[in-house]
Amino acid sequence: MRENQITHKEILTLFNIKNIDYEWSFNKYKPSDTGKWTHNYHRYPAKFIPQLVEKLIDEYVTSREAHINDPFYGCGTTIVTAISRGFKASGTDINRIAYLMTKVKSTPIEPTYLNEKINQFLLTIKCLESNQKTLFHLRDVEPLIPEKHIERINYWFTEENKIELGKILRIIYEEDDGRIRDFLLVAFSHILKNCSIWLQGSTKPTRDLKKKPARPYEALKRHLKKMEVGNNVFYKIVPKEVRDNLNKYLNIKIGDARHQPVPDDSVDLIVTSSPYVTSYEYADLHQLSTIWLDLADDLTDYKKEFIGTSYKKYENKRLRSRLAMDIVNKMTDRNRKMAKEIEAFFIDMEGVFDESYRILKHGGRCCYVIGNTRLKGVDVLNAEVFAESLQYSGFKLDKIIKREIPSKILPQKRDEKTGRFASNDNANSEAYPVEYIVIGLKE
Ligand SMILES: C[S@@+](CC[C@H](N)C(=O)[O-])C[C@H]1O[C@@H](n2cnc3c(N)ncnc32)[C@H](O)[C@@H]1O
Repeated sequence: MRENQITHKEILTLFNIKNIDYEWSFNKYKPSDTGKWTHNYHRYPAKFIPQLVEKLIDEYVTSREAHINDPFYGCGTTIVTAISRGFKASGTDINRIAYLMTKVKSTPIEPTYLNEKINQFLLTIKCLESNQKTLFHLRDVEPLIPEKHIERINYWFTEENKIELGKILRIIYEEDDGRIRDFLLVAFSHILKNCSIWLQGSTKPTRDLKKKPARPYEALKRHLKKMEVGNNVFYKIVPKEVRDNLNKYLNIKIGDARHQPVPDDSVDLIVTSSPYVTSYEYADLHQLSTIWLDLADDLTDYKKEFIGTSYKKYENKRLRSRLAMDIVNKMTDRNRKMAKEIEAFFIDMEGVFDESYRILKHGGRCCYVIGNTRLKGVDVLNAEVFAESLQYSGFKLDKIIKREIPSKILPQKRDEKTGRFASNDNANSEAYPVEYIVIGLKE
């Protein structure tokens, strides 16, 4: 425990009297601003907006050679922003599709070259469309459909789209340039939802048997053109030194947030938003990409690696935070299983805070973006717990910012029974109308 630690009671008071800081609302920004550069390559649940990361960097980074880290990089908002400023960027995410997205979004490609490659690719796959009369010979392409996931693929895709997607995938894997191949794979992954019978507008995996899925060729063409525009602007923004030596600047891994791929005392600023307990099962939400790109052998084992999953509980570990213990105790009276899930979540997060402390330089800060909620009648005060737990890891509680939630992809309602986010009218519990940035300082 730190000397002069703010007690859990004082933390509760601090949060109670906190007013919203409207400077952090970013209300005036349009989707074209929040989706600028490569930020619109792929949808991602609960991503934050680049303007928030930019403002934190403006506020706290003084060195021109800074190193920024995100232990839960998701679709890479922090990583892309750091690279755009010429800083080193590192981090982890356990989600394999997040890694692909973040790598591609942080890799600017020379615009003329990319244009040639996209046109060449589109020309090749145009011949695949079953209704297409072209001057080209239809290539006898064997669809690449991951056999071990065939049941799931059949569940989500019409026969026609399955075959066309399989052929497109085979052609993507024939591309020799790894950067272009990954760029095409991200586009492919993004269109899967539209090309399937996944209920449009729903983040959760729900089938819509009446849906008329988009055709892959058209969807891919449209999205690739959009990505190309984003790449070209990003290419101009990223300093030449970084473009030419990307390996030196970009250090992202698929892995657990408690093991960052960087030495002790080496990071200037951490900007991140953690997963929430029992909210999104990221492994489920990205299952279309996971099955097509064959990213996990066993979906259930894969899910257990995620923090905040309902597939986890600990028997022999104890929480440090008093506030977390109180929440777990209250929940135990209502629902034992959910209490164990919340406990596991806070224990895991304590490990992440320890790791943040290890990697930061003295004088460096970690900024955790997090909201509170109410589950089964119990207030789950994530932000207050984070504030308390950061101190147990050695941090000084430096600042708490309370902000309105912008138009990020976060449904405002929860299903009371399951505690999961829901976008339908059955949901009757408020999720996160405001959120906090909890900032710890390593003195
Ligand atoms: C709220 S999202 C982060 C979104 C990110 N800020 C963005 O802008 O895209 C939380 C992330 O935590 C990741 N995650 C869950 N468990 C993890 C673990 N054990 N280690 C690392 N990342 C994990 C999820 O895959 C998800 O991408």
